[in-house]
Amino acid sequence: MTKAYEIIDHEFDVVVIGAGGAGLRAGFGCAEKGLKTALISKVFPTRSHTVAAQGGISAALGNMGEDDWRFHFYDTIKGSDWLGDQDAIEYMCKEAIPAIIELEHYGVPFSRTAEGKIYQRAFGGMTTHYGQGTAQRTCAAADRTGHAILHTLYTQALKHRAEFFIEYFALDLMMGDDGTCEGVVALNLDDGTVHRFFAHQTILATGGYGRTFFSCTSAHTCTGDGNAMVLRAGLPLQDMEFVQFHPTGIYGAGCLITEGVRGEGGYLTNSEGERFMERYAPSAKDLASRDVVSRSMTIEIREGRGVGPHKDHIHLNLMHLDADIIHERLPGIAESARIFAGVDVTKEPIPVLPTVHYNMGGIPTNVHTEVINPTAKDPNAIVPGLMAIGEAACVSVHGANRLGSNSLLDLVVFGRAAANRCAELLTPNTPHKAKRKDAGQFGMSRMDRLLNKTPEISTADLRLEMQRTMQNHAAVFRTGEVLDEGVAQMKEVSAKYEWLGTVDKSLIWNSDLVETLELENLLCSAVVTMNAAANRKESRGAHAREDFPDRDDKNWLKHTVIRVNPDWSTDISYRPVALKPLTDEVEAVPPKARVY
Ligand code: FUM
Repeated sequence: MTKAYEIIDHEFDVVVIGAGGAGLRAGFGCAEKGLKTALISKVFPTRSHTVAAQGGISAALGNMGEDDWRFHFYDTIKGSDWLGDQDAIEYMCKEAIPAIIELEHYGVPFSRTAEGKIYQRAFGGMTTHYGQGTAQRTCAAADRTGHAILHTLYTQALKHRAEFFIEYFALDLMMGDDGTCEGVVALNLDDGTVHRFFAHQTILATGGYGRTFFSCTSAHTCTGDGNAMVLRAGLPLQDMEFVQFHPTGIYGAGCLITEGVRGEGGYLTNSEGERFMERYAPSAKDLASRDVVSRSMTIEIREGRGVGPHKDHIHLNLMHLDADIIHERLPGIAESARIFAGVDVTKEPIPVLPTVHYNMGGIPTNVHTEVINPTAKDPNAIVPGLMAIGEAACVSVHGANRLGSNSLLDLVVFGRAAANRCAELLTPNTPHKAKRKDAGQFGMSRMDRLLNKTPEISTADLRLEMQRTMQNHAAVFRTGEVLDEGVAQMKEVSAKYEWLGTVDKSLIWNSDLVETLELENLLCSAVVTMNAAANRKESRGAHAREDFPDRDDKNWLKHTVIRVNPDWSTDISYRPVALKPLTDEVEAVPPKARVY
């Protein structure tokens, strides 16, 4: 029985789904250019997960020593273990400089040097002269940079009169018969009305899917909603096996302790008090890239040199730092360590553990942020009307491993690129085509099924089963055997989605319904992540296979392209990596051994 929804239609030039850093930057950019723009968000914009970003945003400003965007370009390619597309990386690193100046002009309260310039700290994998020196490239607002940027972008969106639809949960894309995206259908959580947003361009800015794992630094809202909408539209995702573990999540709680701590001079020790990173990365030490540090910590624990009664974590030391540095540059982590680990950072080390933090894979796009479908006859063909930005997207600037502070940068650079592209493609207030009567029906039918079904198991139990499977089978180190088991388990877990329904049958503030729909989205990402990981038989960046310990450029220097079928089986293919930059202002960086 189909519920009789109260359906309200809207027409916009552009609809942005997600109002974190990427969504806000794209949204106000479109509004600024005269396009009628809607921003739809399941949470209040300033509660989006960008708010949790701590350490900073990278750009080769050179405020604290010599720097050049070409060094940043090189570091990002090396950090990506050569899976990043060099054209997109050139675009991001070059655009970083004007993007930061723009943020400064919008009012982001960056920390300052004594001369009043934007303060920049060292971060992992960021060097000068192509690996020779250490770069101070990460622009910081103490250790609350994401908070400062998000609030500033929100005020810009208000200023430019983008229209907000807050606490609306996007159900599905509305795809026309010719494969054009016509907009999105969403549920207003507050009054239970269903809204069809028709748009000439729909921009997905829905963030990552960290909550597929048991322990992550991500907010509970990071459920990969855009990724799942794309998969349900029959389109593929890219490079989903690459999941970043941040070296310093608080042990037991998962909350982030910024890499900025190590950038300010903090260091890791094992149970013998040894600064073990000196053995694994003799040159960069604690500021090697995140995949390298997370693997080293895991090896230390495995070999019996972990700390604590169970020898299952590592110490992060900052007791030696000047109290003024902690007070001025790292006040937030001092507070987090006190609340979540009961630690006074001036006296004791923080107990930390590699924790799921970021998804390098996502919705494949070109440099203009237009979604592409590499499984189409023309593998570079765009999906008309659909764009993706931020962590939801895979443009791909992060490849197999993202460098810290390149994420906030990705948000603002490609958020801005999306707005520019919309302005090129669209004339404000262009009339819309006649609406298909059944537009949005697919999304509504998914809600119908849940509302009409008595649950056989609980959503929370199934979510936990998925999270444990991902945590145990797609970890820092992987093997074929463990991954194959993970694939089989995820098959069983996803099949149980059919058993779910809602106890609450209302449409108003039905968190039971929303959490179940979010779980379906999480399952989509979990299934493709596990399958893509099982299929990639090499080690590259965050994907470390003990049975295939080396990077294999001959066979595997390629992006994974993966789709999911209605029975949760997957189709996998591959596409080439762009090994040439966009212009001749910089030279390509051919693959070579990656040492820090
Ligand atoms: O460690 C951090 O502050 C995180 C930054 C990032 O993921 O870019």
